Amino acid sequence: MPGPAAPKPEILAAFEAAKGFMPVDEGLALYAAAVEAGRLGLPLLEVGTYCGRSTILFADAARQSGVTALTVDHHRGSEEQQPGWDYHDPETVDPEIGLMDTLPTFRRTLHQAGLEEHVVALVGRSPQIAAIWNSPLGLVFVDGGHTDEHATADYEGWAPHVAEGGLLVIHDVFPDPEDEFTGQAPYRVYLRALESGAFTEISVTGSLRVLRRTGAGI
Ligand SMILES: C[S@@+](CC[C@H](N)C(=O)[O-])C[C@H]1O[C@@H](n2cnc3c(N)ncnc32)[C@H](O)[C@@H]1O
Repeated sequence: MPGPAAPKPEILAAFEAAKGFMPVDEGLALYAAAVEAGRLGLPLLEVGTYCGRSTILFADAARQSGVTALTVDHHRGSEEQQPGWDYHDPETVDPEIGLMDTLPTFRRTLHQAGLEEHVVALVGRSPQIAAIWNSPLGLVFVDGGHTDEHATADYEGWAPHVAEGGLLVIHDVFPDPEDEFTGQAPYRVYLRALESGAFTEISVTGSLRVLRRTGAGI
């Protein structure tokens, strides 16, 4: 029996070289989930583009399946990425306006990986885009803001669009408060998804959880 789908070495190398927050084992699990979900023939959506690290794998998986990868971000950074916080990278600040802008780095990253044509970047606030979204998705990957407000809005805004048999993937799920660095809101959203009865867990890799829609609702 073949193992989980894996990216080609040049795609993995581009992922490893990209600025971002996803370790390789979690990236490989995301890739395998995205290839599997791509079989539904529906778009795959990521919340939390940042500089495009996870988007590289997401986009390549979409290419394998002949579907489009969508990625949502306002590109102004999450709370913990702002100046003075642990996850701040001064290179992400636009010196002219003094605010973070990860869009140029993301575009360069995607271009260099040869994946531009497989991705549609949705630039804006996740709840605002979700409020006008009205079509089914094969996979929703939640890796946006880590406050309860943002993680809950991402779940409530995007999880309803996961098609029957489609996947909901949640990053930075830390059941033990000792392990977390950016709060336990993703863990609370993960528990809510399981408790809803609409989603069933199919894999755990590091802080990445892959759930399948096996019932209606959220
Ligand atoms: C943890 S980073 C994403 C990391 C990325 N997936 C990677 O692999 O490196 C979270 C991103 O979510 C974005 N974000 C946070 N809250 C958001 C919101 N409400 N709407 C849109 N984007 C948001 C931030 O701008 C940031 O780029």
